[in-house]
Amino acid sequence: MAKMCCLGSNNKMTMTIRETVDYLRALDFLTAQLPRESLRLFFIPSFTALSAASACAGGIDLGAQNMCWEERGQFTGEVSPLMLREVGVSIVEIGHSERRHIFGETDEMANRKVLCALSHGFTPLLCVGETAEQRACGIADEILRIQLIRGLRGVSAADAGRLVVAYEPVWAIGAGGTPAAPDYAGEKHAVLRQTLCALFGPAGAEIPLLYGGSVNLENCGPLALLPEVDGLFIGRSAWEPAGFYRIIQTVLPIFKIKNGPC
Ligand code: PGA
Repeated sequence: MAKMCCLGSNNKMTMTIRETVDYLRALDFLTAQLPRESLRLFFIPSFTALSAASACAGGIDLGAQNMCWEERGQFTGEVSPLMLREVGVSIVEIGHSERRHIFGETDEMANRKVLCALSHGFTPLLCVGETAEQRACGIADEILRIQLIRGLRGVSAADAGRLVVAYEPVWAIGAGGTPAAPDYAGEKHAVLRQTLCALFGPAGAEIPLLYGGSVNLENCGPLALLPEVDGLFIGRSAWEPAGFYRIIQTVLPIFKIKNGPC
C-alpha cells in the first residue's frame, strides 16, 4: 500500500469558534476534490471550537491540541479522551513544543497521553524537537532519540501503525523561528526513522514523519522532497485557507511521486 501524505495545521490559541467555522468551510471547499486515499488533511482548532468544527469539517480530520491521560476525575482544566470522542476528534496532538516548554510537559506525560490516545482509538501525533541550546551543544540527535524512546514506551509494534510523529525543532517554531534548512531537517528525519525502526522493526518504517516549524510556500517543496518526510505540520502559513491550499498544491505532486500510486 502507498504511504499516506499527511498535511495539517495546529491553530494554537488563535481562532474563535466563528473564525474556525469560516476557515474550515473555505478549506473544505478548496480541497474537496483532492484524493483522500493518499492524503490525510487535518486541522487542530481550539477546544472550544471543536464541536462547531466537527459539523463543518467535511473531509478534513480534526485534532485536539492536548488531552489528559485520565477519563474523568480531579483534573481541573484538563480535557478527557471521552470528551474528545464526543466532538468527533480523530487526532490528538501530544508534546508540542509549547506544551513542553511553556507548560512543563515531560516525556513521561507525553507517554501517558500516547498510550491513552491509542487505547481510545485516536491517532496520537507525537511532537519532538530539540531546543537551540541542545542543538548548539551537539546533542540534538540524542534528544530526539530520548523523546521518541520515552514518549513511545510501551507502544506495541502492532499499534505503531497508528502513530504519527512530527519533528519540530523548537528554534524553528513561531514568529521568532527560523525554518530548518532542508539538509538539517533531512539528517534529523533520518535519525528519527532509524529510532522508529529500532523500536518497532518494519512497522517503524511506515510511521508518517512530518516536518514542522516555519513551513511556508517557499520552503515546503524542498522539505517535501526529503526522503524521510511524509508530510508537513504547519502553523501560521496555513491559517488562511488559500495559503494552506497553495502549499498543499505545491507538495502533493511531490508526495505522489515519492509515495507512488495508491
Ligand atoms: P509555525 O508553527 O509554522 O507557525 O512555525 C509550527 C507549529 O508550532 O506546529
